[in-house]
Amino acid sequence: MPRHLVAALVVASLAACRAGEPGDAPAAKGGADRPAATEVRAASFDPAAWRAPADSEIPTDSLGASIRRGLALLQHTPDSLPHYAPGRIACRNCHLDGGRNVDAAPLAGSHARFPKYMERTGATITLADRVNYCFTRSLAGRRLPVESREMSDILAYLAFISRGVPVGAKLPGAGGLVAMKDTLVGDTLRGASVFRGKCAACHGADGAGNPAIPPGVPALWGAKSYSVGASMAREERAATFIWHNMPFGAGKTLTPQEAFDVAAYVNAHARPDSPGKELDWPAGGAPNDVPYDTKSGHKAHRPPPVLPRTNADGAIVPRPPRAATL
Ligand code: HEC
Ligand code: HEC
Repeated sequence: MPRHLVAALVVASLAACRAGEPGDAPAAKGGADRPAATEVRAASFDPAAWRAPADSEIPTDSLGASIRRGLALLQHTPDSLPHYAPGRIACRNCHLDGGRNVDAAPLAGSHARFPKYMERTGATITLADRVNYCFTRSLAGRRLPVESREMSDILAYLAFISRGVPVGAKLPGAGGLVAMKDTLVGDTLRGASVFRGKCAACHGADGAGNPAIPPGVPALWGAKSYSVGASMAREERAATFIWHNMPFGAGKTLTPQEAFDVAAYVNAHARPDSPGKELDWPAGGAPNDVPYDTKSGHKAHRPPPVLPRTNADGAIVPRPPRAATL
């Protein structure tokens, strides 16, 4: 096998273990003069100094084409994958700046954080399963087939924005939303007035979003928004996201109390159901703000009305089996 092809295969398998179908060998050009997508410099890794690579650094070879497709899927999820993302909400609407924003559940470095044990699932899960939790819960959509080219492309993009992060490294904001200093209790009446004054102009008085306002304003409640099983449906998680990032372009201007008030108001509205949610946190330990009952004994915090799920078939990511199945 020619040397450049061997190098291309190594790069592709490092960056996205599932990239490419059998017999679909990527044809990389050159390669020696630019860093591989996931080149690791563990010995000298400094989390504070690390920066995710810019889109302009996406390579121009076949791997680069996959990374670009993955980025496009994150940006235009409902347009590109209407069957899997039926709402008015895309990955980019929560994972801001292509997943690089440390205040918005950063995806940068995620390739080095999985597989990991997820308490909500009560099992060790892969990055593809984690992506599918956001498809099924945050987008209230369907599970993307793990063996699809689209999933490979998303994973290739996540590997690209994780370039140089060693497995096990802790990055600022990594693995979730940064918590605020104090956990307050939101007041929905005060939240309604914050919403009218500071959110409705973009998100609409009915919370349905507005595709005509650039870059496309996502829905905050109703049939086209995130499901009750999404992290954003939790009052503290939403308050944290909102305080750091909203109003769009003017983050960190609300008081923390205003952020909790408006989060409580937004999350009091009806949104799609999330089938199987009662099995979450099977070993207990659900956070206080989870808005639904669990079989392990959590009592719902301010449960919103739920809308029946029309796409219930693909709405659940199966839990990995407990015992060996081979
Ligand atoms: C200037 C328009 C604008 C204003 C005002 C605004 N937003 Fe947003 N909001 C956006 C846009 C645009 C996004 C998606 C950002 C992106 O994709 O880069 C967003 C995303 C969100 C999200 C995450 C995605 C979703 O649909 O759940 C939440 C939650 C949110 N906004 C809540 C609020 C709240 C609460 C306020 C008022 C305090 C507010 N926004 C004010 C434009 C706005
Ligand atoms: C409604 C907001 C929202 C949308 C839309 C969304 N996510 Fe997420 N996602 C989150 C939040 C919040 C977390 C972190 C969980 C927490 O803080 O509890 C997260 C976590 C993740 C993680 C795990 C990151 C890590 O390192 O642990 C991945 C991967 C991910 N999302 C991918 C996606 C993809 C791909 C899409 C689009 C298909 C998407 N998300 C859409 C809110 C969202």
